Amino acid sequence: MSKRVLYVLSVLILVTGIAQAKKSPQKQGMEIFQSKCQLCHVTHPVTPAERAKLLGPPIDEVMLRVKEKYPISENAVAFIVDYIFHPSIDKVLCPSIDTYGLMPSMAKKLSKKEAEAVAQMLFETFPVQKKRKNRKDDNVSVRGKSRDSSH
Ligand code: HEC
Repeated sequence: MSKRVLYVLSVLILVTGIAQAKKSPQKQGMEIFQSKCQLCHVTHPVTPAERAKLLGPPIDEVMLRVKEKYPISENAVAFIVDYIFHPSIDKVLCPSIDTYGLMPSMAKKLSKKEAEAVAQMLFETFPVQKKRKNRKDDNVSVRGKSRDSSH
């Protein structure tokens, strides 16, 4: 009988373990990003034609900027969480604001915890495409039009 209890217990522990592994903060962050942010921040490099239809800068470009200014994870996360709740012209890092206008506040769309999960995931995941040097004629470059024009 006690062996049976032990067996049931170990199966339970295993199953919860798997469930938790599935819901890692990274994965949770990605799910929130996909449902709340990706509409405006695409995750793939874009062509100029595609760019004209975007609602916001591709996330690779955003994260390049954020990491340039905040190379340390905690600072970047703090900046992102603050920005998505209180976007403001004074805080903007991306010159793309000229193209897209100010980002709307996400304060009513997600909790602080969710925001932190997204921000942490963003720091760990993006940019996917590293800055590509010596490829001036590359239109699909993650550096993008607005970034280049600022130099
Ligand atoms: C309705 C469109 C829209 C949604 C949804 C959206 N954003 Fe944005 N976001 C923008 C635009 C436009 C900009 C560029 C202008 C600016 O910086 O405010 C931007 C800029 C940013 C920036 C860079 C700020 C800077 O300093 O320039 C970050 C970081 C960011 N968004 C994160 C997020 C995250 C995380 C989410 C999801 C929780 C999200 N955004 C959802 C439109 C959006």
